[in-house]
Amino acid sequence: MKEENNFEILPNLTNLEKVIKGLSDGKVPIWLMRQAGRYLEEYRQVRSTTSSFLEFCYSPEKAAEVTLQPIRRFDFDAAIIFSDILVIPDALGVDVSFLVGEGPKLGKINASGIDKLEYNQNKLAPVYEAIKMVRAKLVPEKTLIGFAGSPWTLSTYMIEGGGSKDFHNVKAWAYSDEKSFHKLIYILADSVISHALAQIEAGANVFQLFDSWAGTVASGDEFSKWVIEPTAYIVSKIKEKYPSVPIIGFPRGAGVSYVTYANKTGVDAISVDYNMPIEWIADKVDIAIQGNLDPLLLKYNKEAALIQAGKILNIMKGRKFIFNLGHGILPETPIENVRQLVDLVKQ
Ligand code: CP3
Repeated sequence: MKEENNFEILPNLTNLEKVIKGLSDGKVPIWLMRQAGRYLEEYRQVRSTTSSFLEFCYSPEKAAEVTLQPIRRFDFDAAIIFSDILVIPDALGVDVSFLVGEGPKLGKINASGIDKLEYNQNKLAPVYEAIKMVRAKLVPEKTLIGFAGSPWTLSTYMIEGGGSKDFHNVKAWAYSDEKSFHKLIYILADSVISHALAQIEAGANVFQLFDSWAGTVASGDEFSKWVIEPTAYIVSKIKEKYPSVPIIGFPRGAGVSYVTYANKTGVDAISVDYNMPIEWIADKVDIAIQGNLDPLLLKYNKEAALIQAGKILNIMKGRKFIFNLGHGILPETPIENVRQLVDLVKQ
């Protein structure tokens, strides 16, 4: 009876979902953050046909094409939809632009600008269109990952007007005017929930929440307020509608607070950065783990990267584990290094 049940359920799950749910056959799946990107000449070719990065993100055919490129080339187990975390500020009416060589630039917001934010999900329709196109072309065993930035990380870009070194402006607001900052964080959380649900409806099998700047508040109560609680809220709302869709959280730089994040947010898996040995976290949590090879090691030292990848595979043997980098793959990473990494993980 039990086997029959499993047999009915399993064929509908992709390999990555099976691993997260503890139903894997032992094969370690691999995909790489930012796998659709400038290290691929076929990506650069498509990218060169559109001058604005956001316009590129909102071109369903092009976004679908570059999403599939790394799957064709390396046979990764998962595709991640080509988009960006900053499409949510864009849909909220914030000016977002990407200047070549300078990273993102956003129209800065402050407490008096909160009421002007209005989430217009129609703007993101091309993302869902691209997801449908990719899902139609991807073999059923392969996962399509949808994603969004976390409220905290999105707020850093919106308040700093782009990247930051010390996060002075966002902390000045969060620490001095908690009430209005709370409002902003939950406007972002509700936008993330809508965007996640629409991606799942369009065909995403797994959802990843990128909290790239979680580490900047990992030491105290702020971590609960601005990382754990909004994330738990997002997870609970997605699960209310889609209880079986796995959610991966990536609280980059959170260090020892990764444990709290794993235990308190309700995520099904954590993506571990390269700031900690993977055995440290593997010892402390039971949920699935993804990670954590240093992208700079993969770029600059193939031999050392393969040795480190072998160590990670050994440590994680028998665990719910997805091979990935500890952060996004870097432009100019040699193709051969990626190929040998994939061969090692797959053999
Ligand atoms: O992983 C994938 O292949 C899917 C696509 C993806 C992109 N950005 C495409 C992209 C994903 C998942 C992201 C997430 C993202 N974007 C994050 C979270 C992960 C992280 O890196 O911490 C953040 C912080 C952003 C914001 C962002 N977008 C920055 C800071 C930059 C500029 C830096 C850079 O590499 O140029 C981007 C631009 C961006 N997003 C590029 C890509 C492929 C490069 C732009 C280009 O090719 O012209």
